[in-house]
Amino acid sequence: MAKVPFGPTYHEMLYPETIAPEIRAKALKAKETNELDSINLFNITWKDEKGEVRKIVLPKELTGTEANIVVMLGKYFPSGSHKVGPAYATLIEGCVDGEILPGEHTILGPSTGNFGIGVSYICNLMGYEAVVIMPDNMSKERYDRIRKYGAKLDLTPGTESDVILTLQRTYELKKNPKNRPLAQFELMPNYRFHRYVTGNSAIEAVKGIGNSRVACFTSAPGSAGTIAAGDQIKKVFPEAKIVALEPYECSTLADGGRGQHRIEGIGDKMCTLIHNINTTDFVALISDDDAVRGLKVTQDGAEVLAELGVMKTQALALKNLFGVSGICNILGAIKMAHYLKLGPDDNVVTIATDGFDRYPSVIEELENRYLETENYVLKRWARDIFLKIDTENIYDFRSAKAKEQLYQQKEKDWLPFGYSKEYLSLMRTEEFWESEYEKVEQYDREIARLRSGV
Ligand SMILES: Cc1ncc(COP(=O)(O)O)c(C=O)c1O
Repeated sequence: MAKVPFGPTYHEMLYPETIAPEIRAKALKAKETNELDSINLFNITWKDEKGEVRKIVLPKELTGTEANIVVMLGKYFPSGSHKVGPAYATLIEGCVDGEILPGEHTILGPSTGNFGIGVSYICNLMGYEAVVIMPDNMSKERYDRIRKYGAKLDLTPGTESDVILTLQRTYELKKNPKNRPLAQFELMPNYRFHRYVTGNSAIEAVKGIGNSRVACFTSAPGSAGTIAAGDQIKKVFPEAKIVALEPYECSTLADGGRGQHRIEGIGDKMCTLIHNINTTDFVALISDDDAVRGLKVTQDGAEVLAELGVMKTQALALKNLFGVSGICNILGAIKMAHYLKLGPDDNVVTIATDGFDRYPSVIEELENRYLETENYVLKRWARDIFLKIDTENIYDFRSAKAKEQLYQQKEKDWLPFGYSKEYLSLMRTEEFWESEYEKVEQYDREIARLRSGV
């Protein structure tokens, strides 16, 4: 049987400085020279070479709030988005559990893009065949990347909000015992990766900024993996508000709304199984077109941002850092800073899952739709979308009654896939999530043991 190249433990992904120095040095070099060298598994981390969380604090002349908006940058992960983290965590846990065997199993990755890119990349590095199941109307750059990493594509009709079709297709393919799904919407390694690695990195990211605490964390759920960072943030800063963002056009969590939208990676018309509803305080809605036009402003609007008072170097530094969902997360962060009346001591943390490299076609489409995107238009957009953001469409989910609506949504979404009412009830308890989180240590021990060949 082929040998699996084991990568880092959860602890090493959070603290890459604890990786054996020769492996860390090799990994950092491979990042620059050969992205398909399996040593790159050791680059799955939010931290840079110096051990600092990769982030940007947005200029206040752009956000229009006194609060510090801290954006963690996912584009520096191998394969270009942080979704490679849950892909690796799910595959490595499957290897540890003996459920996924090299040379024997084909990996299925249901996705709307980034998770699929992560799965195809990880499978390339770890020697598995992969099939990515995704809608046929996502941005062209996503399919190109998946093909480049050698996975096969199995396309279902539709766009972002038709992700349930990819799940149904995955359940069909799963009937073949050769196939093993990395089910990001259902499996706990996604939760563990984000609560442990992303959550603790977020806590580190605010050190030395404002009061060094997190007042609010915003994340637009796709699989609702990233928002699990909020569970850890709340443990350390109990006052922190955790906010799920949705497209205004597809407000499933907020009020059961459903519709097509343009924010790839989020707003999948469901409450995912791994979403810990207990810790979600608010749901806020962001218009999809604001997210796309906002991306055009940060990408091509350095001159107009400078006219609005942003330092030119800071305005230029925004280029290439974000994708559409990153802007959605930023707009949600600004909206919540106003709503919660946060001041200069307060930090709102959010995430840019990926960078601009997978969105040129989206901006091209925007330009074709609007025809005029000269500087005077971008200036109006910068003012209207960022500086004049309102505090409407924020739903308070802190009461038991409001949470019940989300529990019901989860049941509606997951009973049809064979999950029992008992299991879903267990998910209402904090003990469920704590015991899942505690498994990080046990998996780390096993990864380290298997890696050393013992
Ligand atoms: C671009 C983008 N943004 C946001 C998300 C949502 O992240 P999560 O699945 O962790 O909720 C995804 C998920 O694939 C994504 O691809």
